[in-house]
Amino acid sequence: MIDIPASDRRHLLITGATGLLGSYVVRDLLLDGQPLALVVRGDRRTSPEARVDRIVAAWESELGKRLPRPRVVPGDLSRPACGVAPADLEWVARHCGAVLHNAASLSFRGSDRDAEPWLSNVTGTAHVLDLARTAGIDEFHHVSTAYVCGLRTGRVTEEELLVGQAFGNDYERSKAEAETMVRSEGPRSVTVYRPSIIVGDSRTGYTTTFHGLFAVIRLGHTLLTRVALGSTSGPAILSLLGAPADDHKNFVPVDWVASAIAHGVQTPAARGMTFHLTHPAPVSNATIGDVVQEAVERFSRAASPDDPDLCDERWFADNLAAQLEVYRSYFRNDPTFDRTNTDRLFSHLPCPDLDHASLLRMAKFAIEDDFGRAPRPEPPRRAETPKPASAPAG
Ligand SMILES: NC(=O)c1ccc[n+]([C@@H]2O[C@H](COP(=O)([O-])OP(=O)(O)OC[C@H]3O[C@@H](n4cnc5c(N)ncnc54)[C@H](OP(=O)(O)O)[C@@H]3O)[C@@H](O)[C@H]2O)c1
Repeated sequence: MIDIPASDRRHLLITGATGLLGSYVVRDLLLDGQPLALVVRGDRRTSPEARVDRIVAAWESELGKRLPRPRVVPGDLSRPACGVAPADLEWVARHCGAVLHNAASLSFRGSDRDAEPWLSNVTGTAHVLDLARTAGIDEFHHVSTAYVCGLRTGRVTEEELLVGQAFGNDYERSKAEAETMVRSEGPRSVTVYRPSIIVGDSRTGYTTTFHGLFAVIRLGHTLLTRVALGSTSGPAILSLLGAPADDHKNFVPVDWVASAIAHGVQTPAARGMTFHLTHPAPVSNATIGDVVQEAVERFSRAASPDDPDLCDERWFADNLAAQLEVYRSYFRNDPTFDRTNTDRLFSHLPCPDLDHASLLRMAKFAIEDDFGRAPRPEPPRRAETPKPASAPAG
């Protein structure tokens, strides 16, 4: 362990900054003047530094103002101590006083513990704890999920974790294991944030991940654009998923979850607590069905029988069956997430309403973005003066 006085360690070390939630948390903390260090891996074409630069430049373009550049710590959670180089580890020990562990794999299924979601979520969390320990960091903030409650029904409190519940998929099980590990092996101060299902930005509809709500929209969109059915039906898709109209799902907009976490990591009174970052007014399946119906009718292009990309009936059967299998566990009724700590600490940050209009805005964004496949505009280079834009490009 490297021993440096805590008062000199002003940086917050964040994992998962390149993801949807992480990029919003980074924006909010940079705006608050919080010095940041980001553990980021490269991808096949882009270095960790270039990935971070792109995200910050996109926010600068959106906000029309310059932001300080975070320190980049190249690292991959699947490697021991996250594969952080000795010189970077020395830097982390000198400058970082706290960790926000937000990175995770969102793969739903996988029984091999050497593969996702276990590799990043459980082994990866052990590696982040190791990194914190080696660097002498004793304040740990952990992004979990409200669905560590698994298939529980009724009221779920923020204090409860393992109560003998069954889980709906490997992702939930891996996140429950990770949270348990953080609580038992983490440093003195552990704060846990449990969002429910994160959807897009409440103002712009922007998102980069397309699970849950977006998977149903995508299914409706795909049926309309690739199979000449003439029309499709949101309510019918939900009924195929076995989702009764009166059941509810708990969606939260990414900008609100990020603002709550950014406030939590900067608020000493939040330390040691667990927060259900969930919506006080969940959305009914009937509303979801109506949104999917209206979104695909208004924003998707219907398939024409002469379209060479049209799919045959076999494709339809195979793909629909596969999608339904993955998402059936997801579209079960949610329990009631108790928000005592959240209401107390984040009362000045009310969660925006998620009504038909705001969900439709998110559906429109997803369809026009072709569910992440549409080319994104390059953010302006550093020397140019950023002008406000409508949505980040990162
Ligand atoms: N999305 C939801 O509905 C939801 C709901 C509740 C809780 N959460 C939790 O919120 C957190 C953020 O989720 P998100 O929706 O923002 O997901 P996301 O967009 O998929 O981002 C995941 C982030 O984790 C990073 N990561 C994954 N494996 C890694 C590894 N082995 N090494 C380094 N980095 C790795 C990714 O880096 P790369 O860019 O390099 O892949 C990315 O930055 C997660 O802890 C998730 O469990 C999400």
